[in-house]
Amino acid sequence: MKTPKHHLELLISEKKLQTRLEELARQIAGDYAGRELVLVGVLYGASSVMSDLGRYLWKAGLQYVSKDYISISSYAGGTKSTGKPKITKKLNHSVKGKHVLLVDDIVDTGLTLQLATKLMHSAGAESVEAMSVLSKPSRREVEVELKYIGFEIPDKFVVGYDLGYDEMYRTIPEIKVLVFD
Ligand code: IMP
Ligand code: MG
Repeated sequence: MKTPKHHLELLISEKKLQTRLEELARQIAGDYAGRELVLVGVLYGASSVMSDLGRYLWKAGLQYVSKDYISISSYAGGTKSTGKPKITKKLNHSVKGKHVLLVDDIVDTGLTLQLATKLMHSAGAESVEAMSVLSKPSRREVEVELKYIGFEIPDKFVVGYDLGYDEMYRTIPEIKVLVFD
């Protein structure tokens, strides 16, 4: 790997992460009880949480849940956002008149979520809310509505649970801080 020398430090264990997601799923299942929900995952970061959250929602009793994905990219590799998120994959199915829950791995500046929210509204969604596994509130550049948050974390670059660094480390089942040596 041609990357600067670094090591990883544990931030959130797999158990703590899963326990929190199950808890959030119970809350979401309660909020959407009796309604049909479309989970819209923001790729690639949201792939793990889309799988786990979807199953926890079912276990929590929410039956009518569908899944779709968009892809928004603001990183040209590395650890710094370019500040200009771009849509690189659109929805496969219409969300017109539907209740959408945007699902992401982490909300940092908020630019990605802002763009995704706009996109869902312009696609005619009946309602749009957002959930993210992690949030770095100190990094926010735009105000966003994030209803469901797994964990608020400090301004550190993290990997694992489909958060990547140069496309690496997405396969780690827990959240780790990437520390440059
Ligand atoms: P935002 O647009 O600045 O809120 O950034 C959102 C996207 O940047 C996230 O969905 C991630 O894909 C990526 N990102 C932000 N912070 C981190 C991090 O600490 N590790 C890995 N990816 C990150
Ligand atoms: Mg993401």
